[in-house]
Amino acid sequence: MSGTTRRNGSPLVAISDLEVHFPIRRGFGGRKAVVRAVDGVSLEVLAGETLGLVGESGSGKTTLGRAMLRLVEPTAGRVEFEGRDITGLDEKQLRPLRRRMQPVFQDPHAALNPAMTIGDAVAHPLLIQRLAPDRAAARAQAAAMLERVGIAPAGPFLDRYPEDLSGGQKQRIVLARALVTGPSLVVADEPVAMLDMSVRALVLDLMAGLQRELGLTYVLITHDLATARLLCDRVAVMYLGRVVEIGPADRVLTEPRHPYTRALLDAVPRVDPAAAGRARPVLPGEVPDATRIPGGCRFHPRCPEAFAPCGPDGIDPALGTVTAAGPGRTVEVACHLWNPPTPSDRS
Ligand SMILES: Nc1ncnc2c1ncn2[C@@H]1O[C@H](COP(=O)(O)OP(=O)(O)O)[C@@H](O)[C@H]1O
Ligand SMILES: [Mg+2]
Repeated sequence: MSGTTRRNGSPLVAISDLEVHFPIRRGFGGRKAVVRAVDGVSLEVLAGETLGLVGESGSGKTTLGRAMLRLVEPTAGRVEFEGRDITGLDEKQLRPLRRRMQPVFQDPHAALNPAMTIGDAVAHPLLIQRLAPDRAAARAQAAAMLERVGIAPAGPFLDRYPEDLSGGQKQRIVLARALVTGPSLVVADEPVAMLDMSVRALVLDLMAGLQRELGLTYVLITHDLATARLLCDRVAVMYLGRVVEIGPADRVLTEPRHPYTRALLDAVPRVDPAAAGRARPVLPGEVPDATRIPGGCRFHPRCPEAFAPCGPDGIDPALGTVTAAGPGRTVEVACHLWNPPTPSDRS
């Protein structure tokens, strides 16, 4: 999915100051708290690109991906899709847009209704969206899409049930169902994490090919930095609900600037046979708690490079440009080391 020729540099999705907060109670009758899952994110997804969302578990990747598709309600901020503000739309107004923005989740076993045949599962969105005149036409379109995702010839599969299929086949069917309505945006949340190692690369290759053929824009959520490096044009690194670094994957994942991005990369298992397969902990220190986000820079309690302005009474660093370049090539980092605070930041 790398390469710059397809990208036209215009934003397909524009997110500004997005917050998704979940009110919760801890334990039975417990104290009220608020999980700040997404806590002030602004970014653009450029048409034709693959934007990776990376970061430790709990950093808000899934919630951001779901909020982008209006599968979870934002608490504040806005999401524009294809130039239109979709933040305030109700479900009826969203319905015609749903065909243009589709999710693919991690678990293909949970995604498919065990009581629905494969043909009907892929034909269903066409009928719901009235993109096919009748069931026969919808099934014919479904069969064509199944063949594009490698379920070929599709005929013998149409009347089978998901239980007959492998995880890799199921995820191909999930992809067919997502793509059959002709989306421009696909948000894929750890799409191969539950598949056997042996089929992961095949499914990712398939996704890359479909992106080229169909002119898709991908948001790829992954905790696997090697996958991100391989498949993403740009990556956004998330920490406790914020983007702390964003830029071209080949820059951010080879010359990381934010101390958190560096720590993430340091934790990747080495090729060194003695250490093979053993990922090191990302960082010492407390496991971050999204109900109690530290003041100042939210990363400062775990940051090896924290200095005075970062501390609990310091300033929460905003994303700032560290290397300006053309569309999609700019690197931005939210860190006082790279963008020292100025007195006016205190106001
Ligand atoms: N529906 C929910 N209710 C309460 N807390 C949630 C909900 N969904 C996610 N969270 C919390 O929000 C934070 C971010 O979660 P998530 O978006 O799943 O992160 P990631 O995908 O990076 O692992 C976590 O602390 C998680 O426990
Ligand atoms: Mg997740």
